[in-house]
Amino acid sequence: MRTPIIAGNWKMNNTINYAVDFVKEIKDELEKTHVKVILCCPFTFLERLKDEVDGSKIKLAAQNMHWEDAGAYTGEISAPMLKEHGVEYVIVGHSERRQYFNETDETVNKKVIKALKSQITPIICVGETLEEREEEKTYNIVSKQILKALEGVDRNMVENIVIAYEPIWAIGTGKTASPEEANAVIAFIRDTIKKEYGLGISESIPIQYGGSVNPSNITDIMNQKDIDGALVGGASLKAGDFLQIINF
Ligand code: PGA
Repeated sequence: MRTPIIAGNWKMNNTINYAVDFVKEIKDELEKTHVKVILCCPFTFLERLKDEVDGSKIKLAAQNMHWEDAGAYTGEISAPMLKEHGVEYVIVGHSERRQYFNETDETVNKKVIKALKSQITPIICVGETLEEREEEKTYNIVSKQILKALEGVDRNMVENIVIAYEPIWAIGTGKTASPEEANAVIAFIRDTIKKEYGLGISESIPIQYGGSVNPSNITDIMNQKDIDGALVGGASLKAGDFLQIINF
């Protein structure tokens, strides 16, 4: 059985004080939850939040990472630096990074390899644009993104990833894929992994849905057979909403 994972992606929002209050507000409410809870924070919050989440159910994630350990890469953050701050997960290949910061399937692949070798779990984001969906290319796009992201990854490490299927047209737009549509693409992603890596690995990888998830649609989404959690942007910014999503 895969444990559901609810991850909040704060993107470039909030302040350290807000984040500390947020964690204080939710952490005691999570003692009995059966889901894994992850906060994907701006880098500058991590050091302070590391102490705040200590001993709670909340795990910390970064929203990006470089593929080298160190070097002349102005403005970048490496895996060893994230580990110093207690980071256990990192989002790789979010569509906003692909769109605005030249993230490509190749750089995603390098980051996935580095994260896995550094014992940081990559949350690999895949998803199609509206145009690609309308041209019925969704399945081609997501399978290419996944297989490329995993190229050269040691077979025995593949099960240590998380995948987030996020149709780009559903991110921050208030439009969600219907739960059935999302489930169909996620089932296809699992099947793609099964063909490449076998049933055991494909069954062990959590695959989340992301794109305008909120307290009122989370139950329908989580009722789908293949959906193992959610990557939540806007609705993760308020503690009350995020808690409702966790307690779907
Ligand atoms: P959203 O963002 O929930 O605001 O649509 C999701 C994401 O970008 O991960």
